[in-house]
Amino acid sequence: MIESSARSPSNTREGSEIPPFQLDKFINASRPLDLTGIVMEDAAKYPLSPSEVKVMRYMQDTEFYTVHYMKALMETRALADNEARSFMVCWGYEECYHGRALARILEVCGHEPSKRSIEEFARPRKMTEVVQDFGGRMLSMISPDFLATHMTWGAINELTAIHAYTRLAELSANPVLAAVARRLVKDERRHFAFYYAQARRRLGTELARRMASMSLKALWEPVGGSMAPREERDFVGCYLFEDEDGRARLRDVDETIAKLPGMAWFDLVSKHTNAGTARTRAAGTFVHRPTPFEGASEQA
Ligand SMILES: [Fe+2]
Ligand SMILES: [Fe+2]
Repeated sequence: MIESSARSPSNTREGSEIPPFQLDKFINASRPLDLTGIVMEDAAKYPLSPSEVKVMRYMQDTEFYTVHYMKALMETRALADNEARSFMVCWGYEECYHGRALARILEVCGHEPSKRSIEEFARPRKMTEVVQDFGGRMLSMISPDFLATHMTWGAINELTAIHAYTRLAELSANPVLAAVARRLVKDERRHFAFYYAQARRRLGTELARRMASMSLKALWEPVGGSMAPREERDFVGCYLFEDEDGRARLRDVDETIAKLPGMAWFDLVSKHTNAGTARTRAAGTFVHRPTPFEGASEQA
């Protein structure tokens, strides 16, 4: 049995309660998204707003795009790390089902799922991407502390995903989408628990903390940013996190990450997302949120 030394931080907000992570348990429990009791076809009875469709397509792409991150990481020393490799195989498998579930709801509701991830996989690699991947491989050869950066990055993105899907559920007038989004949250919590426990342990050296801080400050952007135009990324952040509750959730991500060793400075999630929301509003982009369906939680 492989067990991390993670303990729950004092933060009690939803998404931030962190149980000790057991890798064996995670691997044994890995499975397609649990849709038990949810009738996907029923989604057709309820509307999806145009803004919601845009957000769902973006999220569908980020889920399918996980395989790109996996590929880049498996070309580094992560391949030789038992915990990282074992987790990533199951992680990619589960994220793929997340993308499929979102695509299915879009389809059932008469909207075409996004084809971007398929097109992205088919296009030749850009020179900047080749250089980035090469840089990652080189960095990983210099020191195993490189993995701390990846684990911290993963913790940020998975905790953001928890809040993003929670908000998607809360803001939706479609109870089937809301129910599926809440099931997605359950999986994202498991992913976050792994990354956070790993980050806390691997940020134990000064070099690891420096590499993580430098990389995040120089390169981090909200998830999906490397795949989609900035306007789309900004729009998704605006739709999900523009109001007081949304901003509180962004702060929660920052504060939880700031509790990791050497990360006290961390404020990037609020900073980037709020700046994106301001750009969306300055551009006069219309953001339509449906009125949440009162029975939305019944299927969850
Ligand atoms: Fe996911
Ligand atoms: Fe995830």
